[in-house]
Parts: sequence; structure tokens; C-alpha cells
Amino acid sequence: MRLSGVVRDPAGRFSWLKLGVLAFALSHAAVLLLRWYLHDLGPRPITEAIHVSGLWAIRFLLLSLAVTPARAVLDWGRVVMLRRMLGVTAACYAVLHLTLFALDQKWRLLHVASEIALRFYLTIGFIALLGLLALAVTSTDGWQRRLGARWKKLHRLAYGIAVLALFHYAVQSKADITDAVLLAGLFAWAMYWRRLRRRWQQRLWPILPLALAAAASASVFEAAWYAVRNHVDPWLVWDANFDLSYGPRPAVWVLILGVLLFALAGLRRWRRRRGALPRGAVRRA
Ligand code: HEM
Repeated sequence: MRLSGVVRDPAGRFSWLKLGVLAFALSHAAVLLLRWYLHDLGPRPITEAIHVSGLWAIRFLLLSLAVTPARAVLDWGRVVMLRRMLGVTAACYAVLHLTLFALDQKWRLLHVASEIALRFYLTIGFIALLGLLALAVTSTDGWQRRLGARWKKLHRLAYGIAVLALFHYAVQSKADITDAVLLAGLFAWAMYWRRLRRRWQQRLWPILPLALAAAASASVFEAAWYAVRNHVDPWLVWDANFDLSYGPRPAVWVLILGVLLFALAGLRRWRRRRGALPRGAVRRA
């Protein structure tokens, strides 16, 4: 695909939306490079760069998985054209993440391989990376035609890859898994939405109960994690969700984001009814 094709919509027209997302995707690598150049990455610059690249890899992976629910819930057909770019960006940040890890190990590739083989969370990360690469390579129109019906099945692997990446994230977080729990809660919301009946997937009302279920799952996951790994009383962790004195816990954020999504989806429906928005491709399909 030519570079200019990256910012064109499926009809071949230039797309500001795709250009904006491409700029957003590249900006984090650019900021990382700039921080490196300015010696702004702290006392362990490579470790910091490993963390930043890993974070953006998992965020873009989850954003790519959010495309299908966003299309249905927000009735926003055009968002589908962003999925490939988001997925490929996730794979690129994951490759950068591994490259930085190898740099941190002074390019002793045998040592890198043995670390990956011996440390469980690195093995899981490696499997996730291989999966991401397979999906990125086969994301082109040519591979889509070649694989036919099998393409969809193959690309469903993205959900399993996200589970592995989240597990890798949680294990390496050690004492504080707050951010990993937040992402796991948002992923749970998308998973529950996928299990809905097709005709409910475009409705407004399921958004809130799904947000409640995802928040509860995030909270149970967090309590179980600290109980098993740190022997913390799970009820203490659960109760912390109801104490806002230190700010909302990740499960509460999942709920807040669910409510915001509900409000946004409601607003889009209201504007469409007033004729301010065209109907999305999903309704026409
Ligand atoms: C061969 C593959 C991989 C290796 C060797 C690897 C290695 C690492 C290492 C060494 C860390 C930092 C651990 C520490 O500081 O104690 C890390 C963190 C992380 N990795 Fe990976 N990783 C791999 C694949 C992935 C993939 C595929 C993703 C996501 C799609 C990912 C996401 C993350 C995240 C989110 C963090 C934590 C960042 C933070 O806490 O700020 N990793 N990884």
C-alpha cells in the first residue's frame, strides 16, 4: 500500500480522520524520541522507554478492539476504517518494546531468548507479540482476499492476544496493578458487549448494565490479584472502591467511562433524530 493510501478512506478520498489518527499514533514515538534526545527519561532511560512503548502497544491494541462496539453503539460507520491502522500501530509499538528490551540487554540475543523462555510473563508477552505481528502482516486487502472466510477467524485472535497482553501487564506491574485493572475492566466491557444478542448491540440501554458488570469484574479481578499475590484481605480491596478520598479506584473509572459512553451515544441519537447527523453505515447495512 502506498503511503498516501494510509490516509484515504475506502472510497479513495483523503480522510482528515485517518490523518489525525496517524498523527496521534506517531506522536508517542516522536515524544519518546524527543525525551530521549533531551535526556528527560529519568535515571534509567531504556527502562522508561520500555514502559512507554509497552503502554502504547496495549492501548492501541485495546483501541483497535473498541472499533466494532464504537461503530454499533455510536452508530459511527466511518470508525471501521481506523481498525487496521490502530492494530498495526499496536504491533509497531510492541516491536519497539522488544527492540528496547534487547537494547537493555546490550544486544546479547541468546540472553534475550533465555530471559523470554525462563520468565513466564516475558514468554506470555512474546506469544502476544507473535500474534500481533501475524495479525498486522495479514491485515492487508490482499491477505483478506487470499484467506477469505478464514481471515475473520484469524483476526478474532486479537481478543486472546489482548488477554495475554493484559496478563503480561499485570504481572510486571508487581505492587500496583491500578492501570492494568482499568484496562482489563474496559476490555471486559467490550467482551460482554460482544456476547449480547445482535439486535441489542446497537441499543442504548445495555451500555449501563454492561458498565456495571465490567466494573464489578475489574474489582473482583483486582481483589483476587492482591489476595493471591500479596495476601491482602480481598474485602479491604473491594471496600476501597466505595471510598473516594484517594480518588476513584480503577473499577469506579470503568463505571464513569461507561456512563460517559452512554451519554455520548444518547447525544448522537438525539442529534440524529433532529437531523444534525447522517445515519451511520451500520444502520444502512
Ligand atoms: C517479547 C515480547 C515482550 C518482552 C520481552 C517484554 C518485556 C517487557 C519488560 C522487560 C517490561 C518491564 C518490566 C519491568 O520494568 O519490570 C514490560 C512491561 C510492559 N509490557 Fe512488555 N514485553 C513484551 C511484549 C509485550 C506486548 C506484546 C505488549 C502489549 C501488547 C506489552 C506490554 C507491556 C506493558 C503495558 C508493560 C508495562 C508498562 C508500564 O508499566 O508502564 N509487552 N515488558
